[in-house]
Amino acid sequence: MPFPITRMRRLRQSETTRRMVRETHLRVDDLVMPLFVAPGQGLKTEISSMPGNHQMSIDVLTESCKEIVDLGIPAVILFGIPEQKDEHGTEAYHDHGIIQRAICALKETVPELYVITDVCLCEYTSHGHCGVIVDGDVHNDQTVDLLVKESLSHVRAGADMVAPSDMMDGRIGAIRTALDTGGYSHIPIMAYAAKFCSGFYGPFREAAESAPQFGDRRSYQMDPANGDEAIREVALDLEEGADLVMVKPALSYLDIIYRVKQEFGVPVAAYNVSGEFAMVKAAAQNGWIDEDRVRDELLLSIKRAGADLILTYFARDIAPLL
Ligand code: PBG
Repeated sequence: MPFPITRMRRLRQSETTRRMVRETHLRVDDLVMPLFVAPGQGLKTEISSMPGNHQMSIDVLTESCKEIVDLGIPAVILFGIPEQKDEHGTEAYHDHGIIQRAICALKETVPELYVITDVCLCEYTSHGHCGVIVDGDVHNDQTVDLLVKESLSHVRAGADMVAPSDMMDGRIGAIRTALDTGGYSHIPIMAYAAKFCSGFYGPFREAAESAPQFGDRRSYQMDPANGDEAIREVALDLEEGADLVMVKPALSYLDIIYRVKQEFGVPVAAYNVSGEFAMVKAAAQNGWIDEDRVRDELLLSIKRAGADLILTYFARDIAPLL
């Protein structure tokens, strides 16, 4: 029915009708808060490009996680800054590594919190790449072996879910098999399935001290131009046993989130990454945008595109409003 029978504005007249016909809702249950854990005691160092986010020692982390639980946020994802870095990222899969100790502490002090771990080597290697370097490039299969070790050590420490973010081929299958044979068939895997080689990870690399010392990540992370390839990556990770698939970053890849949800109908996570967060904070600090409005609009767009879960540095800010 065209105008004047149909008047789209009728239902926009009041907040009541707007509320009644609102299609998309953010829920606190959708949120995962990323956190950075570092060695030390009483350490709480703000990450300058990510206001409100800190590198925290384990004692500070546990306190922060109590607040997160009180806000109703169901889960955190942990990133570790190790004591020492080396060629092979040894601390990533050491049973007394920073993440393993953090998980143990969290399970003791805030057992109700769901703990997801990022499984990758870039924070732990001296060269900052996500795997073992052979002839100047990351060696796929040798890296997969280490990712399997890392996943197992996280789970032994008490992680509830592992999230491999390295983009090596075949790692989901290898990790699934290792978890199953190790007695951890109940532990889900969230695959960073469509992870693009993105400039939006800049602030994270400051936070996690994980910038590559030579070259870039183009030989393993995806070309931002490719959508069909993202679908193939997701299909493969699902075949290999991923329980949830992630698209990362979120905002420049809303089309990918939409396609993945439509095509596979599986739980989809989206990572609202550090650069996306930093841009909003920076513009708001300059008084150029209204931070709360823009934040809500961005998170809603990720949800509307089809994401079930959103990993976001805004989780703590927005949770009390939901
Ligand atoms: C590890 C990893 C990265 C991010 C999450 N896991 C960095 C990278 O790939 O360089 C980025 C998250 C963010 O920017 O918020 N590989």
